[in-house]
Amino acid sequence: MNKKAQYFEDSPVNKCLILCGDNRSILPEFSNHADLIVTSPPYADARKKHYDSIPPEKFADWFLTFHQVFWDSLKEDGSLVINIKDKVVDGIRHRYVWKTIDKLIDLGWLCIDDYIWHKPNPMPGFWPTRLRDGWEYCFHLAKKKDPYIDQKAVSVPVGKWVEKRLNKLGENDQSRHNSINESGFGRDISKWVGKEKVLPTNVLTIPLVGKNMGHPAVFPIELPAFFIKLLSRQFSLIIDPFAGSGSTGIAALLNNRNCLLIDNNFDYCAIAHERLSKDFHDLYNKVIFYNPQEEYKSLVNELKEPYAKKRGKK
Ligand SMILES: C[S@@+](CC[C@H](N)C(=O)[O-])C[C@H]1O[C@@H](n2cnc3c(N)ncnc32)[C@H](O)[C@@H]1O
Repeated sequence: MNKKAQYFEDSPVNKCLILCGDNRSILPEFSNHADLIVTSPPYADARKKHYDSIPPEKFADWFLTFHQVFWDSLKEDGSLVINIKDKVVDGIRHRYVWKTIDKLIDLGWLCIDDYIWHKPNPMPGFWPTRLRDGWEYCFHLAKKKDPYIDQKAVSVPVGKWVEKRLNKLGENDQSRHNSINESGFGRDISKWVGKEKVLPTNVLTIPLVGKNMGHPAVFPIELPAFFIKLLSRQFSLIIDPFAGSGSTGIAALLNNRNCLLIDNNFDYCAIAHERLSKDFHDLYNKVIFYNPQEEYKSLVNELKEPYAKKRGKK
């Protein structure tokens, strides 16, 4: 096959479908189709002027109303990543986030890891008993212990310090040994020889978005992009059921994945559509926004098609 034909053969036909409505009524159409759900739900008692705000003491039970549709729309080896932050009530950290995760575990979700999104540029301010909030949780949950993962897709250069350290390997560095203070943290430094890339840590340092894009709680594209690369296959389907301004859609298309964005606020769907259409107007990526719901039904199969085709090839 000549190079041009090869190029077209390999070209992903990734699409993004934006649907306006409650994700609990839309997701049943996408049963067993997603590699990854990556999302940031409304935080408790936040943005009251903009969208539904749930009191912290009711949050866990409210979130559980999404459990079944999230579970069903994920493939068996799929992952759910929830970006969220707890809140301070009367000067004390409310643990509604921990309670929510505990209840999800009771329903069968497995906690694969807890990631920290470190924000190097948090808002300035003063609080009498605490400091500035500089991080948020990203919980990685799955249906089974070994969900799909591609660690190489996010690996990072090993760093200059290793070169210096490896030039000075001593006798103790040739095999795993306990450290001199018997801390039990012995390590075999010689294993780093010849390595150019290593796994990153589960702390993701990503600055907050400067512009608000017409939505009050936009997360940076790099955040969903990291999990998309790590936890999904190319050409697969990524779902953001609380999509807001569509940041996850941009991250998905940039990384050759299909994406389903759902938000129950029409204005936010329109903002997402505008953002995505501006960035992806070429032939291979399509952004479709359908509302009311009746109109999108014929398109659902079209969206699933690229994934089904790839799956059929295996
Ligand atoms: C924290 S924001 C997400 C922001 C998004 N990550 C971004 O970068 O723009 C949560 C969104 O969930 C939407 N929402 C709340 N309840 C919903 C529901 N039941 N179904 C669909 N969307 C919902 C809200 O309208 C809001 O835009």
